[in-house]
Amino acid sequence: MLAERISKIKVSPTMEVATEAKRMLAEGINVLDFSVGEPDFPTPLNVKDAAKTGIDDNHTKYTAIAGTVELRKAIAEKFKRENNLEYDVNEIIVTNGAKQGVFNALFAIINKGDEVIIPAPYWVSYPDMVSMSEGNPVFIKADEKNGFRITPEQLEKAVTSKTKALILCNPSNPTGSAYSKKELEDIAAVCLKHNFYIITDEIYEKLVYDNFKIVSFASLNPEIKKRTIVVNGVSKSYSMTGWRIGYAAGPKDVIAAMNKIQSHSTSHPSSISQFATIEALVGSQSTISEMISEYKRRRDFLYDQLMSIDGITCYKPEGAFFLFPNISAFFGKKNNKLKVNNSVDFAMFLLTEAKIAAVPGSGFGAEGFLRISYATSMENITEASKRLKEIVTHLKPEN
Ligand SMILES: Cc1ncc(COP(=O)(O)O)c(C=O)c1O
Repeated sequence: MLAERISKIKVSPTMEVATEAKRMLAEGINVLDFSVGEPDFPTPLNVKDAAKTGIDDNHTKYTAIAGTVELRKAIAEKFKRENNLEYDVNEIIVTNGAKQGVFNALFAIINKGDEVIIPAPYWVSYPDMVSMSEGNPVFIKADEKNGFRITPEQLEKAVTSKTKALILCNPSNPTGSAYSKKELEDIAAVCLKHNFYIITDEIYEKLVYDNFKIVSFASLNPEIKKRTIVVNGVSKSYSMTGWRIGYAAGPKDVIAAMNKIQSHSTSHPSSISQFATIEALVGSQSTISEMISEYKRRRDFLYDQLMSIDGITCYKPEGAFFLFPNISAFFGKKNNKLKVNNSVDFAMFLLTEAKIAAVPGSGFGAEGFLRISYATSMENITEASKRLKEIVTHLKPEN
């Protein structure tokens, strides 16, 4: 009796592992959770205070569907200040998280049978969102050897007459890798040649290390800006995942269409969250640099630990809070109970034998890998590294 489109949607594999880890935690088992893509810092105090003021000052009613003008102005200023991008308030929409931004963008531009190019490894929701919009996802394998970045040649090959859009995630969930300006320009040239939309998910934009210079795709040139929908939000940079504020900027007609969709589905995000987000964007940014230096410390430590394990290779990523090691050298090996044939087996092996929860690469369209989120304490990372090093020595060739 259910709609056909439901059969095309997979349950997020990140959720499955998290659910199993939670079940074990509820049983009192000491599981170290490296599976969730959520900052472990509290929301900055100035933002929390702003929310309290928002309630006291009665910012508690319906707002414009696209978000308050004050917030959209603050977002426009952010784009100008940080990304060298000029947007009018009616070229901006505030969404219930960046997730809804990507969804509404796809829903607004995809016709049945349109193709949407998605580099793999990808964020788990993209293919399902494309399917829900009645489009067809087309995957390009972003090679580990190329830092999980697609090349313009690969993109050119994937383009057909049905190509409607490319989804870029920069920096990437799950790999943490990011594109340089030159690499983006080369990709942009292919997009312009074939004239399709680019949805660029820049939610991890601020979480970059070693002075990496992140460039917003839309800022490359005025022609590319006309075809680009930039999605961003405060969930990751400001540790505001529960506040559900994302935003998108792009061509007026696309934003108007997204507004229409939003008006008949969720309406605007919480008025209080919107009010507080103005403070996040225009107030003190000092907590961000503190978070960045802590993430960098964890990335460096965990990376070194992983690289010291025989059989593991790992790209050292420029951003986000994930490492995406290649664990395929363990395939075909077993301990006294379990045989590891793929990344799901490896994740289950880690969970049951070492009580470490991480996400199998197959969920991100990349068999042979494992996503480890280091948005957790240094104490947990140190303990998990110890457990991991120990447990993989139990995996031996079958005979
Ligand atoms: C790449 C990417 N885009 C979007 C989102 C969703 O962000 P939000 O919580 O703002 O909806 C996430 C969250 O995991 C993400 O990793």
